[in-house]
Amino acid sequence: MGGGDPCGSPPLFFFLIVRSIVTDVGEGPTTSENAEKKPASRYTEDDFETLISDEQIRSRVVELGAEITKDYAGRQNELVVVGVLKGCMLFMADLIRHIDLPLACDFLRVSSYEGGMRSTGVVRFEFDLTQTIKNKDVLLVEDIIDTGLTAGFLIKNLGIREPASLKIASLLHKPARTRTPVEIDYLGFTIEDKFVIGYGLDLAGLYRNKREILALRPDRA
Ligand code: IMP
Repeated sequence: MGGGDPCGSPPLFFFLIVRSIVTDVGEGPTTSENAEKKPASRYTEDDFETLISDEQIRSRVVELGAEITKDYAGRQNELVVVGVLKGCMLFMADLIRHIDLPLACDFLRVSSYEGGMRSTGVVRFEFDLTQTIKNKDVLLVEDIIDTGLTAGFLIKNLGIREPASLKIASLLHKPARTRTPVEIDYLGFTIEDKFVIGYGLDLAGLYRNKREILALRPDRA
């Protein structure tokens, strides 16, 4: 009956094509992954709408700074605030000015790839800290915990360097995208699964300088 002939299986082939089309459409226009699929040049600022205003960010950062100051006050260890570049830059610059304690700053940079854009969970250092963190209190500062892969990697990697403590501050959290659950000690805002830019967050390197957090409009992806 021709059962061994690959050409005799059009229904499966057809199913795979249809499934791929449905998957592309069904992911919805507002998800982070859809935004990553398009070149940045296809977007303008009009494609984004304010999700969190600069006033909201400012007052939340003040609260977080006060909370951190209270939690670390009186500790004997050196406090090192470690920023994960580049996304941390505005959040960290504002946050440390509201932590009323002696502290040192350091930075690291990591990346993860899958065809250049998607995270594989294989995270590697692009550059590392400039100091030892052994016996120090480390506060890791992230722009956003999305899948959690970066933070999960860093907790493990920094953890084996024997800091006295290791905590995480993140401006944003997108729980819908979690792949590695991460405990966030100081969180600015929980957001939906929308691609966001501004206040340090970028789309292909652009828009980090926006004062507010903007989300891709549902009808513009
Ligand atoms: P992870 O998926 O939690 O490992 O996040 C890795 C990095 O992806 C974050 O530190 C951000 O720099 C970036 N990222 C995740 N979601 C967004 C977004 O919505 N806009 C811009 N960058 C993002």
